[in-house]
Amino acid sequence: MSSSPSTFLLIFFLFFTISFAELCHPNDKKALLNIKKAFNNPYILTSWKPEEDCCTWYCVECDRNSHRIVSLTIFADTRLSGQIPPFVGDLPYLENLMFHKLPNLTGPIQPAIAKLHNLKYLDLSWNTLTGSIPNFLSSLTNLELLDLSFNRLTGSIPSSLANLQRLGTLHLDRNKLTGPIPDSFGNFKGKIPYLYLSHNQLSGKIPTSFERVDFNVIDLSRNRLEGDGSVIFGGKKTTEIVDLSRNLLEFDMSKVVLPRSLTWLDLNHNKIFGKIPVMAVNLQLQLLNVSYNKLCGRIPVGGKLQSFDVYSYSNNKCLCGKPLGKCK
Ligand SMILES: *[C@@H]1O[C@H](CO)[C@@H](O)[C@H](O)[C@H]1NC(C)=O
Ligand SMILES: *[C@@H]1O[C@H](CO)[C@@H](O)[C@H](O)[C@H]1NC(C)=O
Repeated sequence: MSSSPSTFLLIFFLFFTISFAELCHPNDKKALLNIKKAFNNPYILTSWKPEEDCCTWYCVECDRNSHRIVSLTIFADTRLSGQIPPFVGDLPYLENLMFHKLPNLTGPIQPAIAKLHNLKYLDLSWNTLTGSIPNFLSSLTNLELLDLSFNRLTGSIPSSLANLQRLGTLHLDRNKLTGPIPDSFGNFKGKIPYLYLSHNQLSGKIPTSFERVDFNVIDLSRNRLEGDGSVIFGGKKTTEIVDLSRNLLEFDMSKVVLPRSLTWLDLNHNKIFGKIPVMAVNLQLQLLNVSYNKLCGRIPVGGKLQSFDVYSYSNNKCLCGKPLGKCK
């Protein structure tokens, strides 16, 4: 009985300090609340309540030790509208920034993103972003993934992106990009084994510097690229997927050395001539499409080559043999 009032007070005090010990850094909270306000308090950010610890909010993640915001991921919401708020630049510890599948997210790639030097993953895909790909992205030296696909970006690809030493995946596909693929992309300081540039309006030649790059996946389909595509290939490479379809490429297929690792080769709708190399029978191909080119000669017999239907080979100059008709 004697100690009860003070015990009660102590418990009361502990309860309050535990439940209201805010882990979130006040600067991060301020930045996030500014972002919410800039988006006009959208439904998807309802959990961002000023009176609650921001480390408990949806769409964000705090680092376990520093309790700083390291991840901001807002995706799949049609109601969120407006531009990327400049306040994203006020989250200096961000490693992962994702605005994805927000069809009403418009405007340019926010320049304040240049301040986020800890960024490893920048995913701004499937929005309605416009303007060009800014040069400042090349100063985000920790970037491992850059995905700007499925937007309405215009202009050319900055060659400075090749300075990103840690970049392993680059998605610029499904935009309205013009101009050539920068020569610098053959001298990528990083690894860049996954390169997706399809569905743009890129023109000019594939850089000869690509001879030196061992891509894992390279998708350049549906552009206006011309000239030689053979630089993509090579006996020493470990490339698995090559899609060069629907371009204006013109080169001798007979001379191409296909990497043994190739599982997917789509070359349809180009101006490729020569023969299908005999070594193609050694590949574990899941897809082969050389239709709508200027190939000639007998389709080599063996491996997977006869498992594809006529539509993989049709509309060439004089290809023959199974699955097409007999050679004359
Ligand atoms: C969001 O975009 C859809 C079409 O994608 C449109 O119908 C809708 O009105 C937009 N909403 C806002 C809030 O802008
Ligand atoms: C190959 O490409 C042609 C032309 O685009 C297309 O009609 C055909 O379905 C494709 N075949 C395969 C197996 O993808």
